[in-house]
Amino acid sequence: MTKLWGGRFTKTAEEWVDAFGASIGFDQALVMEDIQGSLAHVTMLGKCGILSSEETEQIKAGLETLREKAKAGELEFSVQNEDIHLNLEKFLIDEIGPVGGKLHTGRSRNDQVATDMHLYLRNETKNIMEAVRNVQQALLNQASSHVETLIPGYTHLQRAQPVSFAHHLMAYFWMLERDFSRFEDSLKRVNVSPLGAGALAGTTFPIDRAYSAELLGFDGIYENSLDAVSDRDFIVEFLSASSVTMMHLSRLCEELILWSSQEFQFIEMDDAFATGSSIMPQKKNPDMAELIRGKTGRVYGGLFSLLTTLKGLPLAYNKDMQEDKEGMFDAVHTVKGSLKIFAGMIDTMDVRTEVMEKAVHNDFSNATELADYLASKGLPFRDAHEVVGKLVLTAINKGVFLLDLAYEDFKQAHELFEKDIYEVLEPKTVVARRNSAGGTGFEQVRIALKKAEAILGVH
Ligand code: ARG
Repeated sequence: MTKLWGGRFTKTAEEWVDAFGASIGFDQALVMEDIQGSLAHVTMLGKCGILSSEETEQIKAGLETLREKAKAGELEFSVQNEDIHLNLEKFLIDEIGPVGGKLHTGRSRNDQVATDMHLYLRNETKNIMEAVRNVQQALLNQASSHVETLIPGYTHLQRAQPVSFAHHLMAYFWMLERDFSRFEDSLKRVNVSPLGAGALAGTTFPIDRAYSAELLGFDGIYENSLDAVSDRDFIVEFLSASSVTMMHLSRLCEELILWSSQEFQFIEMDDAFATGSSIMPQKKNPDMAELIRGKTGRVYGGLFSLLTTLKGLPLAYNKDMQEDKEGMFDAVHTVKGSLKIFAGMIDTMDVRTEVMEKAVHNDFSNATELADYLASKGLPFRDAHEVVGKLVLTAINKGVFLLDLAYEDFKQAHELFEKDIYEVLEPKTVVARRNSAGGTGFEQVRIALKKAEAILGVH
């Protein structure tokens, strides 16, 4: 089969060599973007008088036909035509005859592929941003019904101080808020047109880059043709934002997995997001959360793979850059899929407030409160810490918790203790009193929920 670029060749490569070099197996995902880019390019060629209006109309009609065929799944791509760009050009020529060969005037596959990738990522970044919003909404919904549900807050995975469960969930809301803004910010650099940069140096044809950019909805054009065809940092940025998002999801997955273990029993996953064991009838495994945690690795992989591919490349285009696609496609599917599952998991999980309540009461996470109590009555905090440490030891020796100690025990430990100590030690009081900005005090949590609602546009 002769190649579209076969003029200077005297023999063709063997099929297996073609197959190794071909990208059509994966870049066919860019079919719509490639047609969209071509339509803008040919419209520009017509407007600039580089093609006649008749030629322009013929090519546009041909591209529209291809678009319909692509939608209907009727295009049969071939490895011999290497990639999506050459496949479509071949289809166009088959469709409308030799005039189809004029589409590529003043353009190279190098600016063409870069244009496709910008269009693709613009679209998918917006989809991902919407999916992030859905997860935030799910977190906000759960948080809203659990402002006064308490769980132990941990440091070193040891119970530290009780917190509102809503506060804990909302920590992830704010992480995702930053993820959202990272994606949003990256759009500034995605929404720039490389089209018209040619192979690397621009073109002799009197093209209008600003016009084709405008037709494609880009905010502007790359200033430098070499940069335009060589830049993949917009993809690096996407993979980086995706990696951070996956890292955040993965951390919450880890907590969901812990919380649904027999050891914690703080939540139960909905049956829809759990699976059983083929051998152990009692098992209910949080598979989806584990899988998202696991899939985080492949997104990081995409980021490192692309950074490594790019680091030694001289300007301008090099075939190595064809390796930019699979990691990006994979990350798009992984992040979108993970976010979608995530929203469902959060929405449907059963929160076992009674177990949380018990956990909060049956521990020493109110000990700081006692020390603060003495400190607020004038005892240096260091001394207060010592006194309370001893009191904790007394309780441990008696096999009870602080709230179970007798008033005399407190009095013996320090004369500054008064009867109100029991009220102060109540976990609800402990949490409520942490009313500093961004703290877990119920008032602060309610303020945070309001802010979050405003961000999501809930009224
Ligand atoms: N399939 C190629 C890619 O993905 C398109 C660009 C090819 N350009 C070239 N000069 N061979 O990178």
